[in-house]
Amino acid sequence: MQNFTFKCPTDIVFGKDAELQVGKKIKEYGGSHVFIVYGGGSVVKTGLLSRVERVLTESGIAFTVRGGVKPNPLVSHARDGVREAISFGADFILAVGGGSVIDTAKAIAHGVANPETDIWDFWCGRAKLTKTTPVAVVLTLAAAGSETSDSAVLTNEEMGVKGGINTPFNRPTLAFMNPELTYTVPKKQLTAGISDILMHTLERYFTKFSGNELTDLVAEALLKDVVKSARVAVKDQRSYDAMSEIMWCGSVSHSNFTELGRCKDFSCHKLGHALSAKFDTTHGESLTAIWGAWAEYVYHDDAHRFAHFAEKVWDVPEDFGDDEAKAQEGIHRQIAFFEEIGMPTSLGQLPSGVLKEATIKDLADQVTAKGTKTVGNFHPIDWQAAVDIYTMANH
Ligand code: NZQ
Ligand code: ZN
Repeated sequence: MQNFTFKCPTDIVFGKDAELQVGKKIKEYGGSHVFIVYGGGSVVKTGLLSRVERVLTESGIAFTVRGGVKPNPLVSHARDGVREAISFGADFILAVGGGSVIDTAKAIAHGVANPETDIWDFWCGRAKLTKTTPVAVVLTLAAAGSETSDSAVLTNEEMGVKGGINTPFNRPTLAFMNPELTYTVPKKQLTAGISDILMHTLERYFTKFSGNELTDLVAEALLKDVVKSARVAVKDQRSYDAMSEIMWCGSVSHSNFTELGRCKDFSCHKLGHALSAKFDTTHGESLTAIWGAWAEYVYHDDAHRFAHFAEKVWDVPEDFGDDEAKAQEGIHRQIAFFEEIGMPTSLGQLPSGVLKEATIKDLADQVTAKGTKTVGNFHPIDWQAAVDIYTMANH
């Protein structure tokens, strides 16, 4: 087992009516001026935003509201939010939405606490984050895991770059998680979210380290639980039990709990972010379009690990064949599951279609900073490997 530190300090309120505790809990944490962030309007339509506003008012908390966060959220929108939040005197940022809204709230929180620094400087490593403003989250979509994660992902539209930062300052102070709020998520976002949850553990399962049995067992159980619950949820999105399992798995999957004593790889995320930056691809779709090609490209590095995955997650029998045969069967069953829930499993199935060779080279430039770095560690992906994987997925 590798050394690790783990601090996941988010105070989580999980279950029916969780959002009704927003006022009371924010007050407990000393908030008096709440800057609410939301997206394109789903929370207005469902009445959630009014409900949150009402409980804040009842708790005597002042608030102001800023909507308009887009999926694949933009740094420019977050910058405007920083200015508004500062002029309001915000001491708490409240995200009401999915990962894009939460990541924008995190960026605004960093900007409010560091008004002298442009927030993108934190994203590109020019400035070091040493303080932030507390963030609370009312989660409406189980997917990114941002409600507990130490990560926040933004797109810089001027530079055509999408990237994340990992820092303890990204961990929200509070998360309110009511699975009933996810009943209205469009089917495409539901399945993209389910895929993202799976990928957050898969990208921690295939890494250069091995030998942490508890972490493996937790990861395998999580993957199996998501698959089982997803099969119910895609047929009946109002199944409270299935949506609860998915929502909680989403938080556990990206809290770092399924990497303890191992590490992250996250190659597919890097390859996917380049697609999202260029084509505004939905995050979960960018991952499933790539994963199969990535797995085929890298599994020879440790076929035994992939064979173990096949047995433990996909119930491939021990006597199915040698490691090679089991590894291939596990990859095949994972891809078949993505297909079963309607996810794209090749680049050609994305709205951007089959890509030109020059575009693939541009994407590989983006991922590897023009060939000056590699990403991931199970099989470090250099420029040529990135080109090869995109090309394998390009049908
Ligand atoms: O904007 P509104 O109108 O709210 O609609 C949203 C949006 O169109 C809709 N939606 C959300 N909850 C809904 C709902 N519609 C109806 N009813 C509800 N209850 O869903 C659409 C997608 O929302 P978005 O927040 O973009 O989705 P998701 O939660 O999948 O977040 C994706 C973003 O998170 C980043 C991704 O890269 C992407 O930018 N990630 C963030 C991570 C993190 N911070 O830890 C890790 C992830 O790997 C990921 O990179
Ligand atoms: Zn993700």
